[in-house]
Parts: sequence; C-alpha cells; structure tokens
Amino acid sequence: MHPLEIPADLDKSGTYAELLASLRAVVEDEPDLIANLANITAVLKHGLADVSWVGFYRQIGPDLVLGPFQGKLACTRIAAGKGVCGAAAASRSTVVVPDVDAFPGHIACDAGSRSEIVVPVVHRGRLVAVLDLDSESFARFDALDARHLEEVAALAAGLAW
Ligand code: SME
Repeated sequence: MHPLEIPADLDKSGTYAELLASLRAVVEDEPDLIANLANITAVLKHGLADVSWVGFYRQIGPDLVLGPFQGKLACTRIAAGKGVCGAAAASRSTVVVPDVDAFPGHIACDAGSRSEIVVPVVHRGRLVAVLDLDSESFARFDALDARHLEEVAALAAGLAW
C-alpha cells in the first residue's frame, strides 16, 4: 500500500500536490472503477483538513446516484438539476458554496454541513459523475481548492467509466 503522510506544514497547494501524487500512485495499477473511486474519497477525506464528507455521485440515467464516499450517511439519489450537485452537473462547471443555507435548492443530507464544493467529472465529453466535498465550517473551499479538485476530477475522469 502507499503510505499517506502529508507533512503538516504544507500550504494548500503543497498539500494538494502531495495528494495528487498519492492518488496517481493508488489508481495506476488498479483497473476497477469502484475500487479507485473509493480510494480517491479516502485519500481526500483523510488528507484534507476540515472536510466532513467526500464522495462521488454517478450520472445514471437522469439522476445522480450515490457512489463511493467517506462520511455520514448521505442522500442516495439526486434528480436532474437539483441541489449543488445537480447545478454542477448541469453546468459542467465547479460550484463553490461558501454558505449552503444561502444556496437556493441546496439539499441538506447532513444538517451540520456549512459549506460545499462540487466538481464535475467529464469522461470523453460525457458527464459521468460529480465529486462533492462538504465542510462543517463556513467558506471552507475557495478558488484554489476548485483548481486542485478539478485536477482530482480530471484524474477520476481518466478511469474506466
Ligand atoms: N448537498 C448536496 C447533496 C449531497 S450531500 O452534500 C452529500 C447538494 O445540494 O447537491
């Protein structure tokens, strides 16, 4: 197994660089999609500070359906265009929500969640999933998180969808 030891003194970009290197190593020898998605969520959940939930919702038919995740029990199915996840999927662009209560239509799976980021995963021109992260702190995610999590989504997009 690949050890995941992120030095505590790294800044945000440095942390993501370490995480990306770990993620590439974790997925490179494994062809199974679900195994790889599961490990991506584990690496992010344990490698990023102040994140309460990390998971994938896969596009299955018209809905986004819960996939591998780390965190509390979550909503299993999100209808087209609903919630932050649906907005990111529909627009195929990252949505950063500093205060979930201020986002019209936010789906509260966990009442403790205060901020959220959702990044689309596009495989060969097809929206196949979204990567969703939640935090119990307001404004946990910024443009730098968006940029680096888009790199994670690009890595996920390269898997065997
Ligand atoms: N809050 C999301 C739903 C998924 S949970 O955060 C795990 C949304 O509004 O789409």
